[in-house]
Amino acid sequence: MTVITIDPELCTNCEICVEICPMSIILPSSEGETPYSPEDAATYCAKCGHCEVFCPEGAISTLFDSTYYQLHDDKFPSIPASEIGKYMVMRRSIRSYKEDPVDKGTIESILDIARYAPSGMNNQSVHWTIVHDTEEVKKIAALSIDWMREVVASEEEHPLKPLMPGLISAYEMGVDPICRAAPHLVIAHAPAEYPTGYTDSIIALSWFELAAQAFEVGTCWAGFLAIAAASYKPIMDELELPQGHVVQYAMMFGYPEHKVRGIPGRDPAKVTWK
Ligand SMILES: Cc1cc2nc3c(=O)[nH]c(=O)nc-3n(C[C@H](O)[C@H](O)[C@H](O)COP(=O)(O)O)c2cc1C
Repeated sequence: MTVITIDPELCTNCEICVEICPMSIILPSSEGETPYSPEDAATYCAKCGHCEVFCPEGAISTLFDSTYYQLHDDKFPSIPASEIGKYMVMRRSIRSYKEDPVDKGTIESILDIARYAPSGMNNQSVHWTIVHDTEEVKKIAALSIDWMREVVASEEEHPLKPLMPGLISAYEMGVDPICRAAPHLVIAHAPAEYPTGYTDSIIALSWFELAAQAFEVGTCWAGFLAIAAASYKPIMDELELPQGHVVQYAMMFGYPEHKVRGIPGRDPAKVTWK
């Protein structure tokens, strides 16, 4: 089945589609007219929608949903470099949260942006589990501490082992060092065998956290939880991921308790020019 259709009435044969197709499945016509995509090439289509959105004439339509809010203009939003730079460098890991929940509509709006993160071969391998119920977040934090207790009591070597007694005692004193008492968690998961599942998930979560702050939602990468979830069956069981999926990474989120008032120092970029 053809997934890419090119309207010969609109096509000017500029061949931008031929040039930019990442899978090279749009071919120039032998008569030098309308390019075409052979039917048997459809299985190789990455469904990235680039042919559609780069076509200056709007001559290409695809059989897959590649549009965002049915946006059909070609105006790229102009954000000055200073503004986008400030937006990004002012992002901070949030470790104190208000109890107020983030409503599901807001979370869906954030995910609607994050789903546009790049993914290997446009496989869009990332699946999301949103732990919206705060009691469930607490349960997952408790299970992560259980995992640490087991590691500490065992002979197992683990790079985090030296930190674990401190984290366990903080937890026992009523502090949540795993999920920072955040109301929600976002877990990115993908089939274990996907070659780009981990990288896709990290990129998508990075998009999630950048998009989140436009909704005044704060985030923090949940490294301890992600590491625990990778090997501790009680957490995997609790998350009820689809068969064959693994936790790729996790993030806590909610409304920040405190305002960020400045930008901390960071090392200069470590660059080698060649
Ligand atoms: C992979 C990764 C795992 C992280 N895990 C945790 C974590 O478990 N708990 C936590 O409080 N912060 C965690 N962080 C947040 C880092 O500590 C934080 O990004 C860093 O200190 C820089 O601060 P900033 O994000 O405000 O710039 C993690 C960050 C990354 C990238």
